[in-house]
Amino acid sequence: MLNLVLFGPPGAGKGTQAILLAKTFNLVHLSTGDLLRHEIAAKTELGRIAGELIDKGELVSDEIVISMIESRLKKPRCTIGFIFDGFPRTVAQAKALDKLLTKHHSKVSVMLCLAVDKGELVNRLLKRGLTSGRCDDLEAATIEHRIDVYNEKTLPIINYYESQGKYFPIPGVGTIEEITENLTSVVKTIYDKPIISHSHK
Ligand code: AP5
Ligand code: MG
Repeated sequence: MLNLVLFGPPGAGKGTQAILLAKTFNLVHLSTGDLLRHEIAAKTELGRIAGELIDKGELVSDEIVISMIESRLKKPRCTIGFIFDGFPRTVAQAKALDKLLTKHHSKVSVMLCLAVDKGELVNRLLKRGLTSGRCDDLEAATIEHRIDVYNEKTLPIINYYESQGKYFPIPGVGTIEEITENLTSVVKTIYDKPIISHSHK
């Protein structure tokens, strides 16, 4: 299987690039942020708990996001693998993902980390906040808090994957196409099998 972890701070372009890579490599795209926003939109109890934390720029508990991923991995699918976007976000989540994938006789293939400086991240998210309807994109202070939470709780994951030789930093600035090309070429170096297109699913 091919399992990609797409990593980077808020606004780095994970969602944008994950959609494109999922198409190219025929992967199932799993974004914990999107899954949580679906729960909020559906007004579930989980959505209520998550929504309060998301609006403040805090992380949702490991327990909640791990169980969401666990249930998605259990679904039978016609795919060669997954692209994880915004997950894992703590070392505990990274370890849990390894355990879950081991149960499915699989593992993380590579961790692709998009690097973007703080000023650019804040600008991108404030701009998106004008139209996204996401409360966590509205205020510079909330965006900066999300970046601080990332630096404190999420960045340590880099060491976890680096020690396994799976960490690949990629510049996250430039055109979307350039970044996709760089990400795609890294994936192709580790996955040399022919790409199965959607039409052959
Ligand atoms: P999540 O939804 O994952 O948000 P995030 O990580 O804060 O980041 P974004 O989705 O805002 O950015 P992105 O990197 O996907 O960039 P995008 O492609 O959208 O999480 C939200 C919240 O949910 C968290 O704060 C937390 O509370 C909770 N949560 C989620 N997962 C969790 C977990 N595992 N554990 C605990 N809590 C969790 O791009 C951003 C903008 O930039 C867009 O407008 C885009 O058009 C633009 N853009 C993209 N690429 C470029 C480019 N190359 N140049 C210029 N602009 C660009
Ligand atoms: Mg996203």
